[in-house]
Amino acid sequence: MSTTVLVGAQWGDEGKGKIIDVMAEDAEVVVRFQGGSNAGHTVIVGEDKYVLHLMPSGILHPEKICVIGNGVVVNPVSLVGEVDDLIARGISMENRFFISDRAHVVFPYHGALDAQREANSGDDEKIGTTKRGIGPTYSDKVGRVGLRMGDLVDPEFESLFRVRAADANRVLLAMGAEAIDVDAVFLEYQEAARRLAPYVADCVGFLSNCIAENKTVLFEGAQGTMLDIDFGTFPYVTSSNATAGGACTGTGIAPNRIDRVVGVVKAYTTRVGEGPFPTELFDENGETLSREGHEFGATTGRARRCGWFDAVVARYAAQVNGIDLWAITKLDVLDSFETIRIAVAYECDGKRYETVPASIRTLSRCTPVYEEMPGWLSRTSDITNMDDLPPAALAYVDRLCELTGVELGLLSVGAGREQTLRIKI
Ligand code: GDP
Ligand code: IMO
Ligand code: MG
Repeated sequence: MSTTVLVGAQWGDEGKGKIIDVMAEDAEVVVRFQGGSNAGHTVIVGEDKYVLHLMPSGILHPEKICVIGNGVVVNPVSLVGEVDDLIARGISMENRFFISDRAHVVFPYHGALDAQREANSGDDEKIGTTKRGIGPTYSDKVGRVGLRMGDLVDPEFESLFRVRAADANRVLLAMGAEAIDVDAVFLEYQEAARRLAPYVADCVGFLSNCIAENKTVLFEGAQGTMLDIDFGTFPYVTSSNATAGGACTGTGIAPNRIDRVVGVVKAYTTRVGEGPFPTELFDENGETLSREGHEFGATTGRARRCGWFDAVVARYAAQVNGIDLWAITKLDVLDSFETIRIAVAYECDGKRYETVPASIRTLSRCTPVYEEMPGWLSRTSDITNMDDLPPAALAYVDRLCELTGVELGLLSVGAGREQTLRIKI
């Protein structure tokens, strides 16, 4: 198998970072294709914990090549911080890290616009963004006024930047926010440009050669299907295509060069930020999921909302991404439940829904139709073989696959690399 696209199939934080790290063992190249430093991908290697925001999660394997594709929005100052942190921890970037010259740059005015839009919104209009400037940067890209990594390292960067910053400052002042200090930001970005210039490259030709040479390439998605700008719970979404199609537009790989799509799902569901979440729990079951799953955001530290597995969402994700195999994570978090519920459909205004409705007004009125399964009440985090899973755990995993029509490729029973049962992945 040469090319695999990996996507989140829920609302993000499914464990994509861990799965990419595990799969990277067999890959040669790992490519991030969308999102920005709103992402927080946690990888645990032995006693060490890494939280990656922009850097592809293959970077912890010393010999793998990592690429930030054109679909990503890059905050160069954050990225330098990540690079320095990794170098300080003994990880070399030399000849194995590339950033697309077509990737758009996130500036402090994007972060300020993001924060001010949230501050100016009423309680039921706030999206609960990460305030990393993601929406405003993608707006500038689509509005054809953004600057790209190629511009950042260009001798004309200063004049290009000053024009954009002056425009952004006018908007910020009109919104009631403070203007950014253009001179200070210019100097900071000039320094980041100096540090990142060795890595900035035209990645289209590079990736196309990798594929022609039959190299194993992994495309790493950020966020998840329900946060996708087109297919998610709009407007409570992020501003990019987190679904499999984003891998093509976000890297330049052609659709007919994708061999398979892996979807990552938690054995239950979480969401950070605002927006509808049909299976959300407000009782002690939700508290148990939060506590056992350590469900706090890797980027903002916010508590993640928790709920039962939603097969309607997972089935829909399988459909829009063309998911061939599931990587199911965090099964161990369910170890202490006597009974576990799965949403198999929704009901709204007397109508049954088997798929996710487009309107959040409808979705917010949907109540889940649950099916119950017995729990296994035993520890799964040391299990290394499917045959050793408690029968009730195996039945639960089988049921998730049956309800979604997707086979199991990998099962994760803990955050560590070794806590992974690899079936077909
Ligand atoms: P991502 O954004 O999809 O990469 O996911 P995050 O890293 O934000 O959140 C997933 C969290 O669950 C991280 O803290 C992981 O270390 C952890 N994790 C991943 N897989 C498992 C698992 O199978 N069991 C447990 N208990 N934790 C896991
Ligand atoms: P990873 O890659 C979970 C959510 C935010 C907010 C909405 C829009 O770690 O799975 P944005 O800052 O993107 O404009 O915020 O999207 N969000 C995430 N939730 N995991 C993520 O990334 C997320 N990235 C953004 O909480 O609701
Ligand atoms: Mg995350």
